[in-house]
Amino acid sequence: TPAPVLTIDGPSGSGKGTVSRLLATQLGWHLLDSGALYRAVGYAASLAGIDLSDAEAVTRCAEHTRIGFRDPGAGAETRVLVNGHDASDALRTETCGAAASAIAAIPSLRAALLDKQRAFRKAPGLVADGRDMGTVIFPDAAPKVFLTASAAERAQRRHKQLKDKGLRVTLVDLLREIEARDRRDAERAVAPLKPAADAVVIDTTGMPIGTVVARILALLPRH
Ligand code: C5P
Repeated sequence: TPAPVLTIDGPSGSGKGTVSRLLATQLGWHLLDSGALYRAVGYAASLAGIDLSDAEAVTRCAEHTRIGFRDPGAGAETRVLVNGHDASDALRTETCGAAASAIAAIPSLRAALLDKQRAFRKAPGLVADGRDMGTVIFPDAAPKVFLTASAAERAQRRHKQLKDKGLRVTLVDLLREIEARDRRDAERAVAPLKPAADAVVIDTTGMPIGTVVARILALLPRH
């Protein structure tokens, strides 16, 4: 039988990145940050001067880009290597998020990333963080979680995250960017952002991260 998969989908700032990392650590499972794959391809394509609306060129770029994850240990955030070089800081910017969201609407790109994502499913289990983990990539996962939060709170969380990383952005700009990105992610034809039919939806507005983690752990058969 294939290894168990716990999917955590939701919009940006819903807390899914932090929650997924905590769950993976606590369970001793592997972690797939699928957004980082889209960000890495957007980054590599931009560096190569590729027009992000050129579906064929972007897909070819994805096929040739080596994306690696390195866990520095001690609970520190995973580093993302793009063609061998650490691009983690660049990938976290809202510019990269917007580039990722733009190319994420390309069906052939999503197809090219399908097997790469499924390869993360290994014993003893996988926590998969993204937009379509429960709907498209791991339809047989259980449990499936969909995290939401009000747009204002999501913008505030992202603002704090970026500020802690030394990046300067205004809250108003961030709120506008987040809303535009969510709209694009939810309205696209291929793998739109939406809860799987069998997903447990958790609204995390005003909810401490520890509570969110506990709620999700309680959904697992045994731990
Ligand atoms: O989660 P993160 O903010 O890193 O994702 C960046 C962008 O990548 C999202 O806005 C979305 O457009 C795209 N994405 C996706 N499918 C996923 C993960 C991310 O389309 N599974």
